[in-house]
Amino acid sequence: MGNIPYNVNLNQEMYMENQTLDIIHRHASSRHYKPDPIPTAMVETIIKAAQRASTSYNLQAYSVIAVTDKEKRIRLADLCGDQEHIRQAPLFLAWCADLGRSERFCQKLGYTQVSESVENFLVASVDASIAAQNAALAAESLGLGICYIGYIRNNPGEIIDLLELPHLVFPITGMTVGWPIKEAHPRPRLPLGAVLHWEKYDTSREDEILKGFDEEVIASGLYKGRQTPFPGKEAEIDNYGWQEHLARRVARSGRLDLRPALEKQGFHLK
Ligand SMILES: Cc1cc2nc3c(=O)[nH]c(=O)nc-3n(C[C@H](O)[C@H](O)[C@H](O)COP(=O)(O)O)c2cc1C
Repeated sequence: MGNIPYNVNLNQEMYMENQTLDIIHRHASSRHYKPDPIPTAMVETIIKAAQRASTSYNLQAYSVIAVTDKEKRIRLADLCGDQEHIRQAPLFLAWCADLGRSERFCQKLGYTQVSESVENFLVASVDASIAAQNAALAAESLGLGICYIGYIRNNPGEIIDLLELPHLVFPITGMTVGWPIKEAHPRPRLPLGAVLHWEKYDTSREDEILKGFDEEVIASGLYKGRQTPFPGKEAEIDNYGWQEHLARRVARSGRLDLRPALEKQGFHLK
C-alpha cells in the first residue's frame, strides 16, 4: 500500500480503517443529555481543535459563543424551535460568521471592508462551518455527544440580541454539546455512488441508486411519525422515503426574516 501514515488497516470490504475514521463513522446526533457540566479545559480543548481547521486566506473569520448559563440556554431553546435537548445540554455553541473583527482592523489600518460582498460572507460562513465540524469531531472523540442547531436561524434578531452579537457577526449554526444519556444510532447515508462522481458529474445511475436508498430509509422507520408537513399532504404516507423528505424540505420557503436580519447586522449582500 506504499506509505500510508498513521495506523491504517484495510478491512474485508477494502475500506481503510483507523481511530479517526472510526470516530467519524460512529457519529450520530445526540438529543438526550445528562445535566453534568463539561469541564472548562475540555471546552477549550474542543475549541482549540476547531481553530485548527483550514480557513479561507487564513482569515479565521468566525467566532463561537459558548453558552453554559441555564437561563440563557432555556431562552435559546425557546427561540430555536422549542427543542428540549437545548434546555438539557450543559453547553450550547453558537457558531458565527464574523466579519466584525476584520471590520475593526480595516478601520484601524485605513481600509474599507466590502460588506456587500457575497464572497466575504461565504468565506466567513464556510470558516464557521468547518470549524464547527472540527469541534464536533473533537467533542465526540472525548465521549461527548453533539447536535447541530440550524434553528438558531429561526429567530435571528432575538438570538443576536440575546448573545449580544455586534455589527457584522451573524449566527450560522448552533450546536448542543453534552454527555449523552443513550447511544444515538447512526442514520443511513446516501450510497457513495450518489455523491461521488469521478471526473465528471454523472446522474446516469441516480434513480436506481436512490430507489434502493429510499427502500432502506422506509424500512428503517426513520421518518415514521416525523414526516415533514406540507400543504395538501397532511396525512402520513407509507412510501415516505428520503426523496420525499428532501423534496418537501426544499419546496418549503422558510426563515424569510434572514435577509432583513443579515442587513441589520451590516451584511448588505448583493
Ligand atoms: C447545519 C445543521 C443544522 C441542524 N439543525 C438541527 C436542529 O436544529 N435540530 C436537530 O435536532 N437536528 C439538527 N441537525 C441535525 C440533523 O438533523 C442530522 O445531522 C441529520 O438528520 C443526520 O443525522 P445524524 O447527524 O445523526 O447522522 C442539524 C444538522 C446540521 C448539519
